[in-house]
Amino acid sequence: MALTKMTPSEAARLIKNGDNIGFSGFTHAGCPKAVPRALAALAEEEHNAGRPFKIGMFTGASTGDSIDGALARAKAVSFRTPYQTTPDMRNAINNEEIAYFDVHLSTLAQDLRYGFYGPVDVAIVEACDVTDDGQIVPTVGVGISPTVCSLAKKVIVELNSWHPKELRGIHDLCQLADPPHRKDTGITAVRDRVGCDHIKVDPAKIVVVEVNEPNEGSGFAPVDETTHKIGENVAKFFVSEMKAGRIPSSFLPIQSGVGNIANAVLAALAENDQIPDMEVYTEVIQDAVIDMLANGRVKFASGSSLTVSNPTMDRIYENLPFFKERVMLRPTEFSNNPEIVRRLGIVAMNTALEVDIFGNVNSTNVMGNKIMNGVGGSGDFTRSAYMSIFLTPSTAKGGKISAFVPMVSHTDHNEHDVKIIISEYGVADLRGKSPRQRAEAIIENCVHPDYRTLLRAYLDHGTKGQTPVSLPVAFSFHRAFLEYGDMHQAELAF
Ligand code: COA
Repeated sequence: MALTKMTPSEAARLIKNGDNIGFSGFTHAGCPKAVPRALAALAEEEHNAGRPFKIGMFTGASTGDSIDGALARAKAVSFRTPYQTTPDMRNAINNEEIAYFDVHLSTLAQDLRYGFYGPVDVAIVEACDVTDDGQIVPTVGVGISPTVCSLAKKVIVELNSWHPKELRGIHDLCQLADPPHRKDTGITAVRDRVGCDHIKVDPAKIVVVEVNEPNEGSGFAPVDETTHKIGENVAKFFVSEMKAGRIPSSFLPIQSGVGNIANAVLAALAENDQIPDMEVYTEVIQDAVIDMLANGRVKFASGSSLTVSNPTMDRIYENLPFFKERVMLRPTEFSNNPEIVRRLGIVAMNTALEVDIFGNVNSTNVMGNKIMNGVGGSGDFTRSAYMSIFLTPSTAKGGKISAFVPMVSHTDHNEHDVKIIISEYGVADLRGKSPRQRAEAIIENCVHPDYRTLLRAYLDHGTKGQTPVSLPVAFSFHRAFLEYGDMHQAELAF
């Protein structure tokens, strides 16, 4: 039986006020575009007619502007989880117009199956192919797609001919069984395949919308002096760990977080000839990994998405057989699975917004109250990694913010999990150190020279205890920024 076909706006009208929608993709990669935009237009139409229209949103991670941007601007979202990066969505969340809850990416698919967040009424998924018997082949981002396709009553497939059908075979698709019947994942090496090349759905649930739209991928900022130095410090640290025998000479699989710093660090690793060729087990495969696959520095990359700029996407499609042999895209419950992270001995590198001198990390909430993006997969990897590394420039906002503070204003990763901190000034190795020793290592090696005296004064002012925090002035840096716009003005009145 042939599948039902619709236009984007016909498909959007299948969605009712109050429905919960599960979207495919991970970052902008693999996200539907035309149907969410039509949904935003429908919401505006309903609002103009005086009727309520809001949906609940489940995504793999952040999305493109056609989902988060369009739906936030249309005031069409009641709640949303998990990670997001679009300015309009971020503003609506911080204005408390949208109820946002931030969960570890590896857990969302199972939380949905467990029924923790209510039903998934409709799934909207981008595909490069869909067959009459219900085989859906995703494009370049997977996220929670297998789970939302299996849970939803209706699956709207945005069949995007911008992506070649020949992508089939790059994915490894399946779901974990739920407790008490879960077995191990079966993944004991980066390139192990445990699933199949498509998501199977009852064809009666499927509606197909045909489109041809490019990815919403933007490029990466060029490597600047600070990110370059951070990258060099990471590379030097790895070389010293190999010499000390703490990283095997064959190296370990690496995970590298999102954004420009992660991209710059990978470029620095590629340049250092003392670091062997490596494998990547991560969530987002960015431009730098594609360069490293092309020049042989990365032998294989497993992730949940190809989060690359459009020129890099073109390059992948021009050489698809080469990249299909070296890349695997998995659902997030596999790409970010703590069991696999611990088993493979992954070296995890993520970026912090702020770090306190005892080794606690804030990745999410600026000044404690404004969400930036979300915890993403950083927690999935950090706690279970062979070695968890946090990277950060020593300052932000032209030096007026120190990334190193007496106490973080929000905690995502705590002192028990964070092992190494690296800034452009150097490396603080926190392993085996007491809180006071950690503070000394961070102040000595990572803090910007402008802030060292202040932080030393905080540490040395006389509070005794296992963790020498002084509550009356623990937020003096943040208070100075909020009052004077500059953390240099922090007053340590003990
Ligand atoms: N206080 C206030 N603002 C700060 C800050 C601080 N301590 N540190 C950084 N910022 C600001 C920067 O000035 C910049 O602002 P702008 O966008 O107005 O220029 C913004 O935060 C982003 O900082 P940037 O230095 O460009 O870092 P980034 O793009 O690498 O992002 C995170 C850093 C932490 C926001 C990002 O890595 C993230 O979302 N991490 C959480 C999820 C994650 O780690 N996922 C990967 C897991 S696999």
